Amino acid sequence: MHLTKEEEQMLDGEQGYAIQKSMEILVALGRIYRAEKLIRVGSVQVAGVSYHNLGDAGLEFLNKLAKDGKVKVLTTLNPAGMDLEDWRKLGISEEFAEKQNLVIEAFRKMGIIISCTCTPYLIGNLPTYGEHIAWSESSAVTFANSIIGARTNREGGPSALAAAFVGKTPYYGLHLEENRVPDTHVDVKAKLKTLSDYGALGYSIGKKVQNKIPYITGIEDADLDKLKTFCASVVTYGAKPLFYMKGITPGSEKQRLPKESIIIQDTDIKEAYESINDDVEAIDFVCLGCPHTSIREIAEIANLLSNRKVSPNTELWIATSRSMKQLADKRSYTELIEKAGGKFACDTCMAVAPLKGRFRSVATTSAKGCYYSRHNDMKTKLGSLKECLEAAVTGKWS
Ligand code: F3S
Repeated sequence: MHLTKEEEQMLDGEQGYAIQKSMEILVALGRIYRAEKLIRVGSVQVAGVSYHNLGDAGLEFLNKLAKDGKVKVLTTLNPAGMDLEDWRKLGISEEFAEKQNLVIEAFRKMGIIISCTCTPYLIGNLPTYGEHIAWSESSAVTFANSIIGARTNREGGPSALAAAFVGKTPYYGLHLEENRVPDTHVDVKAKLKTLSDYGALGYSIGKKVQNKIPYITGIEDADLDKLKTFCASVVTYGAKPLFYMKGITPGSEKQRLPKESIIIQDTDIKEAYESINDDVEAIDFVCLGCPHTSIREIAEIANLLSNRKVSPNTELWIATSRSMKQLADKRSYTELIEKAGGKFACDTCMAVAPLKGRFRSVATTSAKGCYYSRHNDMKTKLGSLKECLEAAVTGKWS
């Protein structure tokens, strides 16, 4: 891989420890994937923020980098393991909170915005069409590539951090035009209504097109919330973090329809629900906001919860970014939701909070959320916002 003089100097340690380590990571990656050079990135999204996943070894690694590492581009953070301000209400232990705060402190020293959200595009880290970025949250990567038309590989936490310190990433994979060609035509004939239908669609397409780039036709009116839930699901269940959706993905009209073709019928969506949904009736956890809720979703939740009370046997979390919660505060949605017994889970989510052993079953609008909840030993139910909130109120799936 060709390195400029300045990049050689960075690799030799002339700009400090963090930059040298970062260059080592970027050069190793570039060599593995035969990148010809490094290219500048407009922004970075760093995942691997929860102490639950990082442990002490991860914290030590971050502290070393934080000694002299400062990010060169706009850099935001993925969800952490807890609400950074109100972690006690979510049942997080003192020990965990202490360690999580140390992780956040290290990121803060590096100059990273402590956004702690997987929807950075909703809170100010919004790339432009064609812009090269280095993001490391699969749902956000898929959204950036497929809905915005920016260009990013699915970075790991360390490689994203390295890109932030250097301001560059190796030029390979989805940064290159030739690797962004769709290879399977997916014609959606199923009728889709709810958020969870789009999660089920993502499940079905992801399973069928494993590691390919689908060109999707037949979707006419997906709003941003449906698209973000679809992005989370399709990549979780096996597709590459890039798809084309006719009429939605910028530049989709320039792509040729691939020869290989599959059709998604109503029966496929039904099968997706059947695979995701476990045989369980009592629900002790309802989590909405995977990916993090938008203000429109919060407004709908507040509306559906008005004059209702969450069951004493159930915990209801609304996972979102702090910025979105501040908007919700101003619009009185927070008051309505909390009066009904719901809890805002800012800065965190159902996959990265330390939840193992706390709940037996979860109801959620997110197919991705179901995937990770099974890893946390929960039985899962995927359903619409209405169905999930009904479960929160009654403690049962009906
Ligand atoms: Fe976001 Fe966590 Fe879901 S990172 S996409 S809320 S699993």
